[in-house]
Amino acid sequence: MKSIVLLICLLAVIPCVQAQQIGLIANPDGRKTISLDGQWRAIIDPYETGYYDYRYQPSADGYFKNAKPKTKSDLIEYDFDNSGSLKVPGDWNTQEERLLFYEGTIWYKKAFDYQRKPNTRLFVYFGAANYLADVYLNGEKLGRHEGGFTPFNFEITNLVRDTGNFLIVKVDNQRRRDAVPTLITDWWNYGGLTRRVKLVETPATFVQDYFIQLQKGSRGRISGWVKLNGNKLNQKVQIRIPEARISKSFTTDANGSAQITFDADLTLWSPDNPKLYDVLIAAETDQVQDQIGFRTIETRGTEILLNGRPIFLRGVCIHEEAPFRGGRAYSREDALTLLSWAKELGVNFVRLAHYPHNEFMLREADRLGIMVWSEIPVYWTILWENSATLENAQNQLREMITRDKNRAAVIVWSMANETPLSNARLSFLKKLIEQARSLDSTRLISAAMERHYTDEKTQMIDDPLGEYLDVLGCNEYVGWYDGLPEKADRLEWKTTYQKPLIMSEFGAEAPYGNHGDPLTRWTEEYQENAYQHQVSMLKRISFLRGTCPWILMDFRSPRRPLTGIQDFHNRKGLISDQGQKKKAFFVMQKYYQEMWGTLPK
Ligand code: GCU
Repeated sequence: MKSIVLLICLLAVIPCVQAQQIGLIANPDGRKTISLDGQWRAIIDPYETGYYDYRYQPSADGYFKNAKPKTKSDLIEYDFDNSGSLKVPGDWNTQEERLLFYEGTIWYKKAFDYQRKPNTRLFVYFGAANYLADVYLNGEKLGRHEGGFTPFNFEITNLVRDTGNFLIVKVDNQRRRDAVPTLITDWWNYGGLTRRVKLVETPATFVQDYFIQLQKGSRGRISGWVKLNGNKLNQKVQIRIPEARISKSFTTDANGSAQITFDADLTLWSPDNPKLYDVLIAAETDQVQDQIGFRTIETRGTEILLNGRPIFLRGVCIHEEAPFRGGRAYSREDALTLLSWAKELGVNFVRLAHYPHNEFMLREADRLGIMVWSEIPVYWTILWENSATLENAQNQLREMITRDKNRAAVIVWSMANETPLSNARLSFLKKLIEQARSLDSTRLISAAMERHYTDEKTQMIDDPLGEYLDVLGCNEYVGWYDGLPEKADRLEWKTTYQKPLIMSEFGAEAPYGNHGDPLTRWTEEYQENAYQHQVSMLKRISFLRGTCPWILMDFRSPRRPLTGIQDFHNRKGLISDQGQKKKAFFVMQKYYQEMWGTLPK
């Protein structure tokens, strides 16, 4: 009896053999897709009753079965089709008032029909689900994904039916000490299917992934690879860039991989000319088109060089918060609104904090000529000695790089934000850096570090992590958490590294329209005052090569309860969440306009 119970429990949790796990599919929008966005049925399940039995054992009869009473006497205690619904993409917190503070499990169900085709494979692709997603099709487990800000997909070719398919996702955004991020963040823990969900159709053997960028340090040689997936792995593959009259052939090996290198005379991507080329990756059985820009990014001493020329990164930090309506941003419109406000500020660079943002942000940055710092949520005090935590962080890093490695706009991969010094932390982050360099040697590696005083007027950046970075990132709040605004006038900045510095955060807080004198906290005048002193201090830092004020727009935060001022929002935005520009916005805009004339745009 005991062994039968054990067997049933095992069967409940092991993914069904029919559901295959394959790596991430690159550029789903460049393929044949069917959107599953819209209203999904939803069951709120605070006690995970749909997953565990009363003995806290995974149940074989969970909500993923989408069971219906067959007779009048049948006992089924849930019914998706009589439950409420939630919009996908979208966080659940801003869709219903009662869910604003909800942290736990919600089950999503989407029914769909699909006409199966010969020699055709089918995948379900999620842009993101915060935080832990268990995915089922027609009652069978497809798999689990952990991490709220990167995409994942499962193959459903052998499971999908022509009619009556039900895709069920258990999304759980409970915070955990061993998770990434961990328990405390200064951003709202928006839960749900926060980005687009789609079916992706491919031939039996298809172009699963590719990396096509300029070779590190070369402005005339492309180097990368192509990866096929399927049963016909040894194929001819062509890389075509019609506008540049380029067509190069390669042959994939028995694993479906081909290294590609070839000379190319291309117009380089830059903020003042964000040139993108149509690039075709054509195998014998499949082809994918993408829009790719080509540029080089490197450092030389304290200089950052774009296409071989020194550049200053006029930046701003952005959270993935939707303008006006609030909640997780997910659409092209959201991205265009945020990036056009950043452009108004005079930026050529944005720091997407503190996690990979949706793909629209990266694609629009490519088109608009805005360079990007992209980061994984290794934020504050992660469990450095926990191997599962490291694996989780490594997986999020791999997914971030896999999705965005062909975006010319992305110039910096950031490994972490404000993490406390320790040997365990250093070894954790060194492993991430090694992994990032092995996945992509063409971009700069950084992290947002902290500084310390060596005496009352000297700021020192000598975090041991700096040794392993290409660019130093440093967050400082002189004039807000550290003294009053004029304190910045007395400070000098030093570092033990001969490397460029990006001041990755600085700022002060004020709700729009709150006015007073320049020393009254929470007023626009105080924020303006803080920025004026910041700008003059920044101008005195000899190795400074980039600035990213915290932050473009006010955003929701559970750590900011101050009634009438913050109301669970961090008000350090230069713009309110309703698009109103605060006085400090114009201090930064003036600083960037002054700079605009001195170095390449
Ligand atoms: C930190 C942190 C941000 C936070 C900001 C603030 O430095 O990196 O996530 O929102 O400071 O306190 O406003």
